[in-house]
Amino acid sequence: MGRFDELHRRSIEDPEGFWGEAAQAIDWVEPWTKVLDDSDKPYYRWFSGGRLNTCYNCLDRHVDGGRADQAALIYDSPITDTIRSYTYRELRDEVARIAGGMAALGVGAGDRVIIYMPMVPEAVMAMLACARLGAIHSVVFGGFAANELATRIDDATPKMILSASCGIEPNRVVAYKPLLDAAIEMAQHKPDHCVVLQRPQAEAEMGPRDRDWQESFAGASPHDCVPVAATDPLYILYTSGTTGQPKGIVRDNGGHAVALKWSMKNIYDVEPGEVYWAASDVGWVVGHSYIVYAPLLHGCTTIVYEGKPVGTPDAGAFWRVISQHKVSTMFTAPTAFRAIRQQDPAGNLISDYDLSQYRALFLAGERCDPNTLSWAQEKLGVPVIDHWWQTETGWSIAADCLGIEPLPIKPGSPTRPVPGWDLDVLGADGHPVAAGEIGAIVGKLPMPPGTMLTLWNAKERFFTAYLSEFPGYYQTGDAGLIDEDGYVFVMARTDDIINVAGHRLSTGAMEEVLAAHPDVAECAVIGAADTLKGQLPLGFVVLNAGVSRPDAEIAQEVVKMVRERIGPVAAFKTVTVVKRLPKTRSGKILRATMRKIADSEDYKLPATIDEPAILGEITEALQGVGYAADSKGAA
Ligand code: COA
Ligand code: AMP
Repeated sequence: MGRFDELHRRSIEDPEGFWGEAAQAIDWVEPWTKVLDDSDKPYYRWFSGGRLNTCYNCLDRHVDGGRADQAALIYDSPITDTIRSYTYRELRDEVARIAGGMAALGVGAGDRVIIYMPMVPEAVMAMLACARLGAIHSVVFGGFAANELATRIDDATPKMILSASCGIEPNRVVAYKPLLDAAIEMAQHKPDHCVVLQRPQAEAEMGPRDRDWQESFAGASPHDCVPVAATDPLYILYTSGTTGQPKGIVRDNGGHAVALKWSMKNIYDVEPGEVYWAASDVGWVVGHSYIVYAPLLHGCTTIVYEGKPVGTPDAGAFWRVISQHKVSTMFTAPTAFRAIRQQDPAGNLISDYDLSQYRALFLAGERCDPNTLSWAQEKLGVPVIDHWWQTETGWSIAADCLGIEPLPIKPGSPTRPVPGWDLDVLGADGHPVAAGEIGAIVGKLPMPPGTMLTLWNAKERFFTAYLSEFPGYYQTGDAGLIDEDGYVFVMARTDDIINVAGHRLSTGAMEEVLAAHPDVAECAVIGAADTLKGQLPLGFVVLNAGVSRPDAEIAQEVVKMVRERIGPVAAFKTVTVVKRLPKTRSGKILRATMRKIADSEDYKLPATIDEPAILGEITEALQGVGYAADSKGAA
């Protein structure tokens, strides 16, 4: 048995021993009384009785332990032509002042704080300042519209919102303040204060609730770390569910710190002091875990990159960052590599840079297509590791653990369940299927430390969404298989979640927006395969009888509505007005079948939003697969 098998087996047979040992790498104010608390099954807790502060473990501990002058964070923003570096001491001091300023404005342990900010170092500082106070942050991605922000404000009921005047996209400056104001206007709950970081690209107008970031924080008295229970929430991160109401994933302090610290060496094979770069956004779980918490818990230098992989200035942007900051390990989504490959297929720009210290590329967030994997392997000459995880799990479920024992790579597989995860693939009858057969991928309870505690304000939904269908298991929502060698293959979602450029979106939420258009009688949104973004949403709408306005006009309004209510990140640009939707006899829309056809090789994405041919093609193809009567029968 290899080292990986041995460790994995121990983690399953003796989780308390395994994670209790890993927890020694964290500084505790008070030790735990129970490593795994199973007194309220199926709701498990890790490190009950323990007290710690996550910010202390990310910053103060390293300042005191000899890393005070090492770079903790490098802000690299080609889009504003800025590079700025903060040592551990500087970052600790900035964070302590922000925490002091927040406390002076009334924020304390257990209060919620929403952070709606672009990729600037202050966003990371804001998260750490909340952790320092024991306040619970909830970061909302900047590409979401006011309506999505309003939903989160009402669910999290924050005392304070931390924001910035603008974000910067290649084609425009995105003014955040009008979106923030609109969201607060829409929400029932009103925060006491909004603290706004003014950026020169678009200054925000301030209102009675607003305070200037500099004025509020620059002269504030530094605040110490407030010890919290290991089981207290560190953050809430909303992610797409099957409806317009997002799920507020709750992460604890103790299990999270232990698991993320452990993952840095064991999964990513990174040592303290090295430069680790996750090219994502702090608004996503990858950003939470691997831009902010894990690299800092481990004493690494992390990079906050504000820009795109291509066009800022060119498809060599990533190689410049890796070379200039001596990155040892990088993590991003396959879509970023597809964008680079599209612009520089031969990888010519790579040779312009010295990448000699660069050791590994990790990809996640969506299925990694074998072409992207082999292109990256060939052009970079380093191990390219696909690994699988979710907002819910906070870190990988399956990976090739480079720091334990590199396993042979099988293209299409994010390799094997990592220590702590005992996976099964279940058939429709709830029983495990044979190796190689497809079913629902589930994890035996308890899930390892660092995974979700519950859903904010929605324990019942946590149970029904994840724990009820297969008792004793966590339902991942992904379908796939495990082969004879124990390799996991993740094929598709079992719900209506789609993955657009590594961003997780709900087609159900988009359908709710489409259905709200006064001329729309019914609608369907499906995800179709796209060579750059992995998937793109396609909308189909049936109009109310008697509507005589041009289809194209309605289609454009619908596209605008999705952009305004969900946000540009939905990338919803294609909608077709159709006479009817294919349905079963019982009236269920055949979304899965529509999806299959849209994904087939012969199907081409329409170039324009008013392309009415799609339903014809789909109906024709449905007839080909025996759904003719059903689809014809649909009125
Ligand atoms: N604030 C405001 N708008 C934003 C935004 C933000 N933080 N992020 C994205 N948007 C907007 C974009 O400007 C774009 O708007 P447009 O329709 O006016 O062009 C829209 O949302 C879609 O954005 P995106 O999906 O990022 O597409 P893109 O064409 O701008 O870039 C990629 C495509 C592949 C280059 C980019 O998605 C990428 O780098 N992805 C990989 C990294 C990543 O984010 N991973 C996430 C999890 S690991
Ligand atoms: P998110 O919660 O945004 O991280 O999205 C999680 C979902 O993205 C998973 O449930 C999968 O459907 C998909 N996903 C993430 N990583 C991978 C991967 N390596 N391979 C296949 N799908 C992935």
